[in-house]
Formats: sequence, C-alpha cells, structure tokens
Amino acid sequence: MNHLYIIGTGPGGLEHLSPTAHAALGACTDLAGHGLYLNLLGHLAEGKIHHKTKMGEELARAALALNLAASGKTTALISSGDAGIYGMATVVFELLARDLKSEWKNVEIEVIPGISAMQAAAARVGAPLANDFCVISLSDLLTPWEVINRRIDMASQGDFVIVFYNAVSNKRSWQLLEAQQILMRHRQPETPVIIAFNITRKGEQLEITTLGDLNPVPLNMLSLVIIGNSETRHIGKWVYTSRGYHTKLALVDSNHSQ
Ligand SMILES: C[S@@+](CC[C@H](N)C(=O)[O-])C[C@H]1O[C@@H](n2cnc3c(N)ncnc32)[C@H](O)[C@@H]1O
Repeated sequence: MNHLYIIGTGPGGLEHLSPTAHAALGACTDLAGHGLYLNLLGHLAEGKIHHKTKMGEELARAALALNLAASGKTTALISSGDAGIYGMATVVFELLARDLKSEWKNVEIEVIPGISAMQAAAARVGAPLANDFCVISLSDLLTPWEVINRRIDMASQGDFVIVFYNAVSNKRSWQLLEAQQILMRHRQPETPVIIAFNITRKGEQLEITTLGDLNPVPLNMLSLVIIGNSETRHIGKWVYTSRGYHTKLALVDSNHSQ
C-alpha cells in the first residue's frame, strides 16, 4: 500500500499532538517537512529518514512526499498546526489536480487534523473565538493585497473576531499597520487584541493590548494576532467574546434565589 499521511502536528508542544497523528508517525518510514517542524517532533522523528526542505519550497516538498509514497515508502508530510489551515494539504491536492504523474494516483492519502495555532493561543487567554470569527492571512505572496484588504474590511464590518496569520515576516510589516487602519474604521481603539508568539513552543509569549496600541514591531513570522469584536472583553488576565449568555443571567439568578 502506498500511503501518504499529511499530518498537522499542532502548534509546537508534543502534548498537543493527536493520538492519530502519533500513530501515523509511528507507522511511517520517511518524513518530509520544513526542518523546524521536523525538529519539533523530537524523539517521534527518530529512526525515520528526514527529507528537509526550506520555507518557500512547498510545491517541491509536496511533490517529494508524493514521489516517496508512490515509490512504496510510508511517508508523512509534516505541517504545523492543522495541515488544512494554510498548511501542506492543499499543496498536495493542487498537484494531484494537475494530473502530473500517473503513479501518484496509487497513493492512499490521509489528512490528519491538528490543533491550529489560533486555538492554542485562544485557549491560553480564555475564549476570544467563542462567537463567529474568521481567519485572514496577511501574506500577499500568493493572494493580492487588494483581495486581503477587502476581506479585512468586510470581516470588520461584519463584526467578526478576526485572526491574522502570517501577520508579519522579516521582509514585511506594513500589512498589519494597514489592517489596523481598516479595522479602526469600524472598531473602537479599546478593542482587545491578543498577540501570540511561539505558542506552546520554547520562547512562548503572549501580549494583550488594544487595537489602538497595536504595534507590529515586536512581531515576527512565528506570531499571530487576534482582534476582538464589539463583544470581546478583557477581564483581569482573561479575554473572552460573549455569545449573549448575559441575556440569560437573570434566569440563573432567579433559579439561585428560589
Ligand atoms: C503557514 S502558517 C501555518 C498555520 C498552521 N497550519 C496552523 O494551523 O497553525 C504560519 C503562520 O501560523 C502562525 N503560527 C503557527 N504556529 C504558531 C505558534 N506556535 N505561535 C504563534 N503563531 C503561530 C503564524 O502566524 C505563522 O506566520
């Protein structure tokens, strides 16, 4: 059987790796992935053949994984977080859709979900994603900025909580400042904002700030930003977004007093 597992390994810490991902890693002989993510697997990557590729080489990495699996090697293609959220799964399907190699048709593919970085970051601070939210990548490498700009504007008008992935990189930080300007058209400057660095990894840092004070300078490629909506509250060390239960609290109070 030619098997390719596309594994979302979670935000970093192995404690967040799912048992299914654990079992798939145990079953494979070859690992394809970015060096950082293979290293994060620690002892689970030992005894496997490592095929490391660099950032920006996603198409080559996916083709390599398909070739390995097609040649009979049980292979895992490693993605951080969830492989289907700005991860490697879509790259494999884009290649398959092009029908480039007939032997790829014999590869049995299984996509194994992982905890996305936004979920881990949200859990650290409370429940900011508790109501309708959307996720937008600020990277304009593959999506034109006009499209991203429109999505931010629409999400902002719709009062969605917004998570920004790829908010800043070594080469670009202006997108986050421009996003802040768009958001300020529809949101108060006091809106809670969470900045999460290296969540569940060594060097993890979390900062709770406001939309008005959002500063892209300390951010890097290993950080994401959660922008609250009009129902997001910062209470002590917690941030949560209301789902409207406050309208039912009188019911709890009256039940208690009976
Ligand atoms: C190519 S995307 C991969 C997302 C991944 N598939 C997921 O579901 O989390 C890379 C971006 O994810 C975010 N990210 C991934 N892991 C992170 C972590 N541990 N802490 C903070 N942000 C993270 C950053 O915004 C980074 O620029």
